[in-house]
Amino acid sequence: MERLLITGVLGCIGAWIARVALDEGHTVIGVDVSGERHRLQRLGVDGRFALEDVDVRDRSGLEELVRQRRPTAIVHLAALQIPSCRANPFRCAEVNVGGMGNVLELARKFGLPLVYASSAAVYGPGPSGPLAEDEGINPHSLYGVFKRTNEDMARLYAHEYGVTCAGLRPWVVYGPGRDAGMTGDITLALWHAMRGEPYRIRFSGTVDLQYAEDVARAFVTAALNPKPGARVYNLRGEVASVDDAIKTIERLTGTKGLISYEPTPIPIAADLSDARFQEDFGPFPFRSFEEGLRETLRIWRDNPGSDERPKVL
Ligand SMILES: NC(=O)c1ccc[n+]([C@@H]2O[C@H](COP(=O)([O-])OP(=O)(O)OC[C@H]3O[C@@H](n4cnc5c(N)ncnc54)[C@H](O)[C@@H]3O)[C@@H](O)[C@H]2O)c1
Repeated sequence: MERLLITGVLGCIGAWIARVALDEGHTVIGVDVSGERHRLQRLGVDGRFALEDVDVRDRSGLEELVRQRRPTAIVHLAALQIPSCRANPFRCAEVNVGGMGNVLELARKFGLPLVYASSAAVYGPGPSGPLAEDEGINPHSLYGVFKRTNEDMARLYAHEYGVTCAGLRPWVVYGPGRDAGMTGDITLALWHAMRGEPYRIRFSGTVDLQYAEDVARAFVTAALNPKPGARVYNLRGEVASVDDAIKTIERLTGTKGLISYEPTPIPIAADLSDARFQEDFGPFPFRSFEEGLRETLRIWRDNPGSDERPKVL
């Protein structure tokens, strides 16, 4: 059994990774600064692991934590999302790039394998796909530039210091707990449709929809099976237009016309190949968007006390 140090554990993907890891019998040491425990509560893992209030910008705090808790692998997720990066680029660089630098130092100093969240935002709107990991890289946001920088830093830490790391690139993650960031709008649209309320998604175009639990399983799998070097991996759920995603939401909630969207597409290629991830860790099935939405509705309906907090950053 492993001891996973998870940064950003109070976020959507972090809470799901904690749940998947705990359910598999691993120990979790969680790091976050937000104090927001609603996702842990919704997934039934609040109080089931040690939660440390350490900022990923605080390298000595992180080192002290590793000395005390002795993790066997690191899963690094803590980051600010696209709207926060747009609003405050310098702070985003400190957290998203500085934090990654600190975590790479931890991996180097303590000889720990590292899995970190990159993003499909390293791609530009780009050529038609399916695109491999090194095709069409051209980030159109500072957030994507910082993620790309993280991948380059990881590559050089592997080359110079022998650090073992894997970077996973989620696209639109949806499901219970996904209430932050621009692409959280898909989950919030479902939440509002379920309640018979209108909602406007802030983007259009074609996206890759990945259920949060599947993404979490991908992170845990990569953390438990470290590969030498610093490979990056695309993930692939269901590629669909926002228009079609809305139709599926309407069908499953029995609503019509409540969900609308802004005409601006996200400037990221949607058709990405996950052949490398499948080759290294597969076969690894991602569920369909419809299955993921059904599961999301089931979890919300089975936990009537839980509340998908509409948080527009
Ligand atoms: N959700 C997606 O669709 C998606 C897509 C691509 C990449 N990613 C990446 O995956 C990771 C997790 O995404 P998420 O959706 O769970 O995001 P999230 O915003 O829900 O969670 C991020 C967590 O990091 C924490 N955090 C922020 N700054 C911190 C700091 N300085 N020190 C410690 N903790 C800090 C936040 O409090 C938050 O709980 C992020 O790196 C994100 O960029 C997410």
